Amino acid sequence: MRVAIGRQGRCTFVLSGGSTPRRLYELLAAPPQRDQIDWTRVDLFWGDERAVPPDHKDSNFRMANEALLQPLSIPATRIHRMPAERADRDRAAADYQAEIARVFDVPADGVPPAFDLVLLGLGPDGHTASLFPRTAALNETRRWVVSNHVPQLGTDRLTMTRVILNRAACIMFLVAGADKAAALAEVLEGPADAERLPAQLIRPETGRLVWLIDGAAAARLKTSTGTVVSYAQ
Ligand code: 6PG
Repeated sequence: MRVAIGRQGRCTFVLSGGSTPRRLYELLAAPPQRDQIDWTRVDLFWGDERAVPPDHKDSNFRMANEALLQPLSIPATRIHRMPAERADRDRAAADYQAEIARVFDVPADGVPPAFDLVLLGLGPDGHTASLFPRTAALNETRRWVVSNHVPQLGTDRLTMTRVILNRAACIMFLVAGADKAAALAEVLEGPADAERLPAQLIRPETGRLVWLIDGAAAARLKTSTGTVVSYAQ
């Protein structure tokens, strides 16, 4: 993040949802880490969002707001919330794509911009963001953000697609817990099967892919491919 700010005067950071990142956000928002970054120069986005209001207990925005945005007093102009609560989610997805294009000052129907940093999680079923197994969003080749129906959850989500995620300069997966061990081993060491294991779609075109994995999640790996960290949630 510091490198991006030094090079271009800002950093564009896509936050992950779920529960795992909460502890990471709390650590980033506390001394000494908080003083390592000029957070007034960080544009924050979300990789996906549930179809709930921003103050709902399940909202990815709410979790980040509590753990990161408020403690760091992130300026509102730097917060680019994904409006998944809107009834017309296709319109909401298109509007979010337009917001991304505005921040990067590029056409909303052109080549997707490259985020400096994308943080992602991994579900026990191999999903990431809201790219769930055998859902339509996996096959999106043009739009950067879509509404995705997730039959497994009986709900719709807004999610960034691989079209824009894979443009990032750095994609960092944060994976913790024994319940992720089987999926992680399949995603990293199993045969290619992205319909069943959507996290396999995430392959940066030119950027870096970093896996931050705790010991429990790494338990089924045969070869160490990521940085194994201890991660107390
Ligand atoms: C979401 C996330 C999702 C999450 C994984 C892991 O909205 O739920 O974007 O992709 O990262 O489901 O979630 P946990 O961190 O809660 O295990």
